[in-house]
Amino acid sequence: MSELLLLNGPNLGILGRREPEVYGTDTLADVEAAVAAEVAGRGWKVVSVQRESEGQLIEAVQDAWDGSVGAIVNPGALMIAGWGLRDALAAYPRPFVEVHLSNVWARESFRHESVLAPLASGVIVGLGALGYRLAAQALLAKVPAS
Ligand code: DQA
Repeated sequence: MSELLLLNGPNLGILGRREPEVYGTDTLADVEAAVAAEVAGRGWKVVSVQRESEGQLIEAVQDAWDGSVGAIVNPGALMIAGWGLRDALAAYPRPFVEVHLSNVWARESFRHESVLAPLASGVIVGLGALGYRLAAQALLAKVPAS
């Protein structure tokens, strides 16, 4: 069965309780279920990894090399200077879509640049948990049916 990597960086395991006025009330489990529902028809299995540290996220990307069809990545604050994660995704041989729940452009200026974004197939910001569903749809459209 093909796998879709759902990668979430620091502080995203506490979604739902974390600044809900900024990030919404959906939990990570809600996001996982929504993405799984989106890709079930294609027979993709969602492999969800959330870690607080960059090294563990890099390992997850490397582990996904074989077997995954693509990835949805919310790097959290690693968008700002996660150069190691950036290099791991540069080497990752599949497409990925970057997601941010909040509209980073409407927030502090340090959130206005992502070191990952130039490598992404696309970036979805500001649509809350819906952004993950849309990212899944984008990957369904982008990855040829096998
Ligand atoms: C975030 C935006 C980042 O700037 C922030 O550091 C996060 C969450 C988002 O999903 O809106 O942790 O990636």
